[in-house]
Amino acid sequence: MDVSRAIETRKSCRDFSDRPVDEKVLRRLMELTCRAPSAINLQPWLFTVVMGQEVRRLSRKLHKAHAERGVGCAPDNVRPLPELYVERRKELGRGFVPLMQEAGVDPATFIDQGSLSFYNAPAVVVAALHRVFPEGRALDVGLAVGWLLLAAAELGLDTCPIGLICAYEDEIKDFLNIPEDYQVVLSVAVGYGKPDSPINRFRSPRAPLEQVVRWY
Ligand SMILES: Cc1cc2nc3c(=O)[nH]c(=O)nc-3n(C[C@H](O)[C@H](O)[C@H](O)COP(=O)(O)O)c2cc1C
Repeated sequence: MDVSRAIETRKSCRDFSDRPVDEKVLRRLMELTCRAPSAINLQPWLFTVVMGQEVRRLSRKLHKAHAERGVGCAPDNVRPLPELYVERRKELGRGFVPLMQEAGVDPATFIDQGSLSFYNAPAVVVAALHRVFPEGRALDVGLAVGWLLLAAAELGLDTCPIGLICAYEDEIKDFLNIPEDYQVVLSVAVGYGKPDSPINRFRSPRAPLEQVVRWY
């Protein structure tokens, strides 16, 4: 698979089968991920790969924390979104809600609940940034995660980046023994999507180039 095809075919999977991912495949995935560039090659990241029953145990812990504290995915929890972004969010819903309904899940809760379950993926990669760096260096980790998503596509794996879990950083760090001086910035569910799931038919739209690219 060439890079363009990986970019064009990758999409977030939100309904994984229980087929496990071979540990050798996960190792290859992480080798490719860690080839990502970083400022001064400092590689400020730490990745924790969680597999099998440990994913389910972590998920139970996150659901418990969510039931107590209830932080959701919606970005305007923090401040209102400008109209442009409100419209993009609505567009996402127009495409995705009918598929969620077809799958028989509640669109109001599916993303939050599903995220905390890593959509039943058999493996999860938790990405963290060393606290010595300013938050802007999460950019380096984000690049590496981009590498991960594309390498996964080539390896025949499906993925879904999951940021919601960062709201429960203390629980994650405690469960996974992530060193105190690292901050959890993102996670990625990894596995094999159910091919017949209506949820996995969803392909998110993109804004026209004129809206998001300027030329001088
Ligand atoms: C930083 C980041 C955080 C994300 N967090 C979540 C999440 O918590 N739950 C979820 O279902 N999807 C999450 N996503 C996936 C996005 O919703 C998805 O990438 C976007 O809708 C575009 O769809 P696509 O990945 O299928 O192209 C996240 C993506 C990124 C980049």
